[in-house]
Amino acid sequence: MTAMFGDFLFGGDYNPEQWPQESWEHDLELLGRAHINEATINVFSWALLEPSEGDYDFSMLDAIVASLDRHGVRIVMATGTAAVPAWMARRYPHVMRKGVDGTQQVFGGRHNFCPSSPKYRERARALASAVARRYAGHPGLVAWHVNNEYGNGGGYCYCETCAAAFRNWLRARYGTVDALNRAWCMNFWSHTIHDFDEVVPPVTYGDGIGTDKCVISGLQIDYRRFQNEQMLDCFRLERDAIRESDASTPITTNLMGTFKDLDYFAWGREMDVVSWDNYPGMDTQPSFTAMCHDLMRGVGGGRPFMLMEQTPNQQNWFPYCKVKRPGEVGKLSWQAVAHGADTVQFFQLKQSVGGCERFHGAVIGHDDSDRSRTYREVAALGADVAARAKRIMGSHVDAKVAVVFDWENYWSLEGCVGPTQGLRYPDEVHRFYRALWKRNVAVDVIESTADLETLRRYDLVVAPTLIMVKPGVADNLERYVEGGGVLVTGYMSGIHDEHDLVVEGGYPGPLRGLCGVWVEEIDAVAPGANVPVRLDVGDGAAVDCAGEIVASIIEPEGARTLATYGGDDFYAGTPAVTAHDVGDGRAIFVGTALDEDGIDALFDDVLHAAGVATIDAPNDVEVASRVGDDGTVYTIVTNTGDETRVWEREDGGRIVLDPFAVLLFEDGVPVAAPAR
Ligand code: GAL
Repeated sequence: MTAMFGDFLFGGDYNPEQWPQESWEHDLELLGRAHINEATINVFSWALLEPSEGDYDFSMLDAIVASLDRHGVRIVMATGTAAVPAWMARRYPHVMRKGVDGTQQVFGGRHNFCPSSPKYRERARALASAVARRYAGHPGLVAWHVNNEYGNGGGYCYCETCAAAFRNWLRARYGTVDALNRAWCMNFWSHTIHDFDEVVPPVTYGDGIGTDKCVISGLQIDYRRFQNEQMLDCFRLERDAIRESDASTPITTNLMGTFKDLDYFAWGREMDVVSWDNYPGMDTQPSFTAMCHDLMRGVGGGRPFMLMEQTPNQQNWFPYCKVKRPGEVGKLSWQAVAHGADTVQFFQLKQSVGGCERFHGAVIGHDDSDRSRTYREVAALGADVAARAKRIMGSHVDAKVAVVFDWENYWSLEGCVGPTQGLRYPDEVHRFYRALWKRNVAVDVIESTADLETLRRYDLVVAPTLIMVKPGVADNLERYVEGGGVLVTGYMSGIHDEHDLVVEGGYPGPLRGLCGVWVEEIDAVAPGANVPVRLDVGDGAAVDCAGEIVASIIEPEGARTLATYGGDDFYAGTPAVTAHDVGDGRAIFVGTALDEDGIDALFDDVLHAAGVATIDAPNDVEVASRVGDDGTVYTIVTNTGDETRVWEREDGGRIVLDPFAVLLFEDGVPVAAPAR
């Protein structure tokens, strides 16, 4: 893969319009000394650029571009369409979003537009087009950044314009009301409709149950699909407007990891390069962050991605915002690179003095100097990245294991009213991913609808809580296993079809033959409680562990038992985990959300069966590699934790890793960081 950018971009969001122009030189001089070579600009400047409808004023942006130019700073140019200006909200109230509870948004906030509004679309396209005409071909321009974090904060829109567009979308999808009634099971609670115009979006004062669930789950899923399309249309129309002036500069929009409301695989197919914003909280496990990076790389078809935003120190929007400990920002940056990032960018380069983000970390803080710990750490990281990161650009991650992450499945699982409220899709995927991460197994994240050829690239495919089995998926998985693949799936899998209707004939529906089990009942386990599980690990040995959240009550139909429920409930002694040999492969069904001991012990066996190599490193130490086109292997060893770790290696080597230490190896040879 050729690298997308000539240089490793080290920079981030920069909003100099918040300060007098006289201060810019000083800022850029400080940023230059911190090795900042890129600025993302114009993200929230619509009101300045278009002070009244159709009148553009580029004077401020021209001046910003010129000052960046003078300092040799490359530009990621945003289109600026993510916050509606006051005049537009006032003149056209319906460009603003309507909430699920019927509240009409007025001017204020951001990410606040209705994605179906013809006026919003017209003005957003016009602005993107004007910005592109003006700055296309600028020598400093390296990428276009459309809008900002679509869907963040505002949620979907439920206004009349959206409702009308949704009805048309349904007409095109289903053709007849009968087909719609069937797909949504509308004879339930007298929901049968006789005209598409009778359909109402899943608002909380109608069929919605909170924001996540719905009386008619097919309505909820389809509304999500529809809103995803509407927002993606908004992206496409800006992208296409840019393309009229610029045929080649990469176009992106910043995504948000496991953000629920948008099906990012669909977005990835429309973007030249995926970019995303990584904001781990106080208790986010490093394995979860790693999973998000792998997911974003997967969304981009395995290609390197841009780490568009992260904070150089604190966030401001968590309830409690811890400062990053010394070394932590370096660790987070290199962890991103290890999983496929070809840029390291921050929000933001200079800390605001007003607005709700004034306590958000920035490279230049309120002290306005180079003395802060944050500045000095960013500068050291900048020197490090400048010295060591460029060689890695364009390389790929070579994974023999795939984990399935599928947004419609996410919506389907979390949309269930029963048997438990305790399942969060990203957490359940992470439960399995973490077992792989702890053994330093490289993982690709794929959609459930990946074709057979894709599946066959992997020795192991893990599909947690695969509740919605879309057409073709079960067949592909079956052929994959028959051909020698190992599949791990389990609780809550194989229940719904693509309309979110239960597949009758017993769970796990279309996966029943493959897994060789019938799940007769699904018990909910109370929060904090668990079901004892004994896992057979061969040679008569067993691991005692526990199952959480749900316990599938399983009748084997050809599968053998790997683990059994203990305790004294009526299903004690029945299978909790099973394995079914099919063709040359194996399907493993994990009936309950195993705790960490259980999942770890199970994956020892699974990885062995699949022939996947693992690397034993101390707790918290991540070993991840990227491979260049010429076969060079770049290995990044990161101590993701704040305790010193000593790695006694099998080859006799001994590595001491300070808190958050990062080591880089090129074909096994250490590449030293520049001296501080
Ligand atoms: C992101 C957003 C940025 C900034 C940042 C603060 O979600 O794209 O504009 O608000 O969060 O953490």
